[in-house]
Amino acid sequence: MPPSDRARPTRRQLLTASAVSLGGVTLGPALGALPATAQGATPADLGGGSRRPRHTITIDGEPYPDPLHLERGTPVRRARLWETHRRAELQQLFAQHVHGTMLPRPQEQSAEVSVQQFATVVRKDLTTHVTGPFGSGSWLTRVFVPTGEVRGTFLLIDHRGAATDDPEQDTPYLPVRTINRAGYALAVFDAKEVAPDDPARYREGVIDLFSDPSAPLPPTAGRAIAAWAWAASRVMDHLSEDPDLDPARIALIGHSRSGKASLLAGGLDQRFVTVITNDSGSTGSKLARRGKGDDGRAEDVAKITSTFPHWFSEVYASYAGREEALPVDQHQLMALVAPRRLYVTSATEDANADPEGEFLAYVAAAPVYGLYGLADTGLPSTTWPPSADVPVRGPAMSYHLRTGGHGLTEVDWGWFLAGDLFD
Ligand code: GCU
Repeated sequence: MPPSDRARPTRRQLLTASAVSLGGVTLGPALGALPATAQGATPADLGGGSRRPRHTITIDGEPYPDPLHLERGTPVRRARLWETHRRAELQQLFAQHVHGTMLPRPQEQSAEVSVQQFATVVRKDLTTHVTGPFGSGSWLTRVFVPTGEVRGTFLLIDHRGAATDDPEQDTPYLPVRTINRAGYALAVFDAKEVAPDDPARYREGVIDLFSDPSAPLPPTAGRAIAAWAWAASRVMDHLSEDPDLDPARIALIGHSRSGKASLLAGGLDQRFVTVITNDSGSTGSKLARRGKGDDGRAEDVAKITSTFPHWFSEVYASYAGREEALPVDQHQLMALVAPRRLYVTSATEDANADPEGEFLAYVAAAPVYGLYGLADTGLPSTTWPPSADVPVRGPAMSYHLRTGGHGLTEVDWGWFLAGDLFD
């Protein structure tokens, strides 16, 4: 469909840091600075065996850190203690040992929006401008909004540069038309604009706005995945103010490396009512302690941190080959989404992502949902493997195992669109 020439004039909104906090936004403490104990520490300092979790649960016969004990040992039996202490404690541990410190709030942030009207869809080009102590930067989010009642919005972190301006685009990975026709809005930004997916250049987007470009990043600093997650929250700052969208019905979704980022952002930022992590594997949905998995083909910490040294903090790389020393594991990151809707997906042939490790993490996150009476995973059995191609849905937790290989496909989207993920 050719774009109409009825583009409305550009609108510019200014959103200051204080406006962000006044707007009822709840940002996890991990978005701020690390506690003094972690600052200036080397990976070896932080990754020492003494950090091994004291309280464990058993998953597949092995000990894993227990989400439901404070680090000092107090059991977490009520949602209130989870919310006042344990959630923040886990957020800090993931920042310190896995993803690295998140970028701070920008000194200034604004949105520039231009609107293009099509027959049944409006496309809003939302440019997010952010300023830090070392400069300013921006990136584009395309927001495709169907006319009429909007059932909810999917915000996709995309690392493939897949989106075009065309609201009729309908690829398996990015079925804009199908999503819009089902009554949902789709917002999508290219993660590479935020932080290039390149070990030599990843700082060139937003990271160097907040740290001296001429100095090395500290080993505790977050890198590309943390920056992508941070950007999703910055986009949310603006989507949540869009009068055409319901801020209480915005789902965050990412596939694979972007699914690692969607899970992180969803664990930190309570505004996302639904968090979808699709085939996110190592340092996403997969339990780190499973290492190379049962068949030896899964991606472990050594592999991911050596192949993609620009994704996580250097501290995380220090756990290569000794995952059992990590004070956290990925079921706890999933649990940070509670009590909001969590949707974990896997594919049967995605050996690198370890579908069994993703399934076990999903099941192990359920007791935290249990604090809210929402422990039902929807699974008829917690024994691996579940039936393939049978999406399951509990009141807050959803899962499917798709037949086939690594990918975000029309089948996955079909299941996301089939039921209401926004209640
Ligand atoms: C590689 C990497 C994975 C990642 C995937 C992707 O396969 O090993 O960790 O999830 O790329 O992003 O597609």
